[in-house]
Amino acid sequence: MISKLKMDDLNLRGKRVFVRVDFNVPLKDGKVADDTRIRETLPTLRLAAVMGGRLVLASHLGRPKGAPDAKYSLRPVAQKLEELAGKPVKFSSECIGPVPESKSKSLGDGEILLLENVRFMPGEEKNDEGLSRQFATLCDGLFICDAFGSAHRAHASVVGITRFVQKAAAGKLMQKELDYLGRAVSDPARPYVVILGGAKVSDKIEVVENLMKLADVMLIGGGMAYTFLKAQGLPVGKSLVEDDKIELASHILADAKKRNFKLLLPQDHVVASEFKADAPAALTDAGSMPADKMGLDIGPKTVAAYAAEIARARMIVWNGPMGVFEMPAFAKGTFEVAKAVAAATGKGAVSIVGGGDSVAAVHQAGLTRQISHISTGGGASLEFLGGRKLPGVEALSNP
Ligand code: 3PG
Ligand code: MG
Repeated sequence: MISKLKMDDLNLRGKRVFVRVDFNVPLKDGKVADDTRIRETLPTLRLAAVMGGRLVLASHLGRPKGAPDAKYSLRPVAQKLEELAGKPVKFSSECIGPVPESKSKSLGDGEILLLENVRFMPGEEKNDEGLSRQFATLCDGLFICDAFGSAHRAHASVVGITRFVQKAAAGKLMQKELDYLGRAVSDPARPYVVILGGAKVSDKIEVVENLMKLADVMLIGGGMAYTFLKAQGLPVGKSLVEDDKIELASHILADAKKRNFKLLLPQDHVVASEFKADAPAALTDAGSMPADKMGLDIGPKTVAAYAAEIARARMIVWNGPMGVFEMPAFAKGTFEVAKAVAAATGKGAVSIVGGGDSVAAVHQAGLTRQISHISTGGGASLEFLGGRKLPGVEALSNP
């Protein structure tokens, strides 16, 4: 399905290969809290090792500001990878320069070196040419991109490096994601329902318009809903609102109305006075949010309305929780949506869940196996599903 060069077609024996992975995983108390993204790259790492490659792995973690920051070190990830891969993983505390260069040159066939966070370099997010060239010197002309979750970022270790290697190929996880999501874009079953949530509307508002062209129904929850509700002139109390996106939100609502597109917003909310797990929770309708309260979850009427749409769907894409599901008092909306998606999938719908938080919610609800495809990409999967070309995919070599 994918029209780019695949890693299967590379000749890796005895060669150093730069493998861009997405090990941007949640950490807690210095340990990896969710290893899904690491486990999902194992097929690529195993295959590359069997092919005799010498693996130089690179990733970002979090959003350090272009300088080293111990809290975003990939060291805990190296440990976790060693455990999962069942073999030693060397670590380089610098991601370019003489240290990783000599470490990469001392690798044997099938051995793994993980570089420190590429976002410790200011040139990474700028797709800087000099940095891209330096990354390329850590391999023998061969690059594998398995970082589907970062493919929407035109950064040096994802895109820039491809100009300075001979061959840039897709890894197994990249291939799997593109095959699955590619089918969803080219031929979605209908009705096609998109569920969007999460705290910030700014992360998703750009893709909302694209997705509206492809889907039949859009259900909005989470913090992002309040920018839309405020745009409609409804009271939002102390809820999270991005004032600089209100105009865009109004425009989207007007567009949806004009085109008769079914875009649903929460009708009721679970509210509290503070963003705290033990803050007393109450219910309120969307039109009567008290000025001193903030919405922290969707209410039961909204759950019922959304569940009804989900039950009718033949294709479902879900990204972003409906509320602050880390706090039990505000978790119900998210878990009810997870159950509805799983139930619809059981009746034949195709479901795709992406984004760290919604994936975590599905895991916590014990419903992972009842979802058709769990994507390792959040923003990347939404952009791709919205019909955008991903720079990290476009930059790969043609076969
Ligand atoms: C993600 O987790 O969304 C990807 O790893 C990309 O990270 P970013 O949003 O910080 O670029
Ligand atoms: Mg992101």
